[in-house]
Amino acid sequence: MKYRFLDLRRNAVKKNLELRYLVNRSARNYLHENNFMDIETPFLIKSTPEGARDFVVPSRMNPGQFYALPQSPQTFKQLLMVSGYDRYYQIVKCFRDEDLRADRQPEFTQIDCEMAFVEQDDIVHMFEGLIKQIFKDVKGIDYTEKIARMTWEDAMWRYGNDKPDIRFDISICNLKKPATVFVDKEDQAELISGVDFKVFDEAETVVAIAIPGCSEYSRKQTDELTEWVKRPQIGMKGLVFIKYNADGTFKSSVDKFYTEDKLKAIAEAANAKTGDLILILAGAEERTRKAISDLRMYMADKLGLRKPTEFKLLWVMDFPLFEYDEEGNRWVARHHPFTSPKPDHINIMINNNPVIENAAKYLEHPYAGIKANAYDMVLNGNEIGGGSIRIYQRELQEKMFAALGMDAAEQQHKFGFLLGAFEYGAPPHGGIAFGFDRLCAILGGSESIRDFIAFPKNNSGRDVMLDAPATIDDKQFEELQIKLDLKS
Ligand code: AMO
Repeated sequence: MKYRFLDLRRNAVKKNLELRYLVNRSARNYLHENNFMDIETPFLIKSTPEGARDFVVPSRMNPGQFYALPQSPQTFKQLLMVSGYDRYYQIVKCFRDEDLRADRQPEFTQIDCEMAFVEQDDIVHMFEGLIKQIFKDVKGIDYTEKIARMTWEDAMWRYGNDKPDIRFDISICNLKKPATVFVDKEDQAELISGVDFKVFDEAETVVAIAIPGCSEYSRKQTDELTEWVKRPQIGMKGLVFIKYNADGTFKSSVDKFYTEDKLKAIAEAANAKTGDLILILAGAEERTRKAISDLRMYMADKLGLRKPTEFKLLWVMDFPLFEYDEEGNRWVARHHPFTSPKPDHINIMINNNPVIENAAKYLEHPYAGIKANAYDMVLNGNEIGGGSIRIYQRELQEKMFAALGMDAAEQQHKFGFLLGAFEYGAPPHGGIAFGFDRLCAILGGSESIRDFIAFPKNNSGRDVMLDAPATIDDKQFEELQIKLDLKS
């Protein structure tokens, strides 16, 4: 990283940056053909809430006051809709002070788009076109297959994850319905109950997946899997397995409790075939569902089912509007506070008090069931884009802010400009932003976005070549009228 300029000479890196340039060019061509206009928006702004912390910038001319760098151009693109620029786009830097991972950088690039007079289907159609064009121009792939659509609830129910990798056909069999979520879902509870197996009887959630061709796993191998799910990152107490042997017989870690007929019924419910290994986890809803999702990916990696040269796109739709913030014991916007609720759910928001009386039972609060006009585009198990149909009426936007615990004064202070703008004839509008670096990385067969950025930051958010961030001169502090009070 220190000698990044030398690294950039290597062919592998050069190829990545070429790919990035091709994606950029292809996106611009498509958006240009479709009458989108590239409009720049400012970087020195006031906070835009996208769920991360802001990077702040002091101002010499306004001592004691700070700009924030945009986490995205969200409010600006909405204002452009009010101003009559019906199709906006920008390939733009965004800044988020959040914990870094392979697919996250503190400054990253979005293909940011917004359209006026649209509904969700118009957005879906337009941006399926964009992604297909990029596939064609950059990878020579004709993505003719229909892009699957799945509700958020289905994604969580069948994959335990809101960005499922659907390149391989392993999905969850729900052997029990958790008490407070998935109201309309059918489960297979009768298959496991009635035999006095306490682990299953006492668990909130019991979920199974069938792993193809692994029925001959040895004791050592199943023990290894058990250890794997017991690691603190996964947090399960154990793992139940059923081997569906090639000769049609069964061997399981719960033979004591279940007859061969019961095991067969569970195997069939899990869509298992002879030769498969069925893995079952039981425990608290959120943790167990995440664990089965991780186990599904782990097994798919082990079996080579996640091929980097194969691409599967998916829309995940109808996300919850709110998310519960444990620290603050309050609701926060799951996407952002400008996202509209499903029309049928507006009254639930308006007619219910957002206060959460019992934190442990937040899922029973009416807000937990409110769905949004929000959608993500998922590629090979990665969220490559996200967007929503927006609120465009002042009154509803105020109700939304109030639901998030903002009183009128705070609303005015933070978002007075937007609320005011909605009074001047705001058209219905919506949009999406693609994570440009992520898209490039996946198209290039990698999950690390750093390889596709010319001058990336390291895992601690540092530019090692420049040695930034760094301290500044005393004179600069003086001009800014800032004194440090470092705690460590
Ligand atoms: P969202 O926050 O979902 O939506 O961001 C859109 C996409 O940007 C990518 N992304 C990132 N890429 C790299 N590093 C990061 N730290 C990072 N954070 C996000 C993801 C994500 O899908 N204003 C809304 C969009 C809208 O509603 O139109 C927004 O920013 O691929």
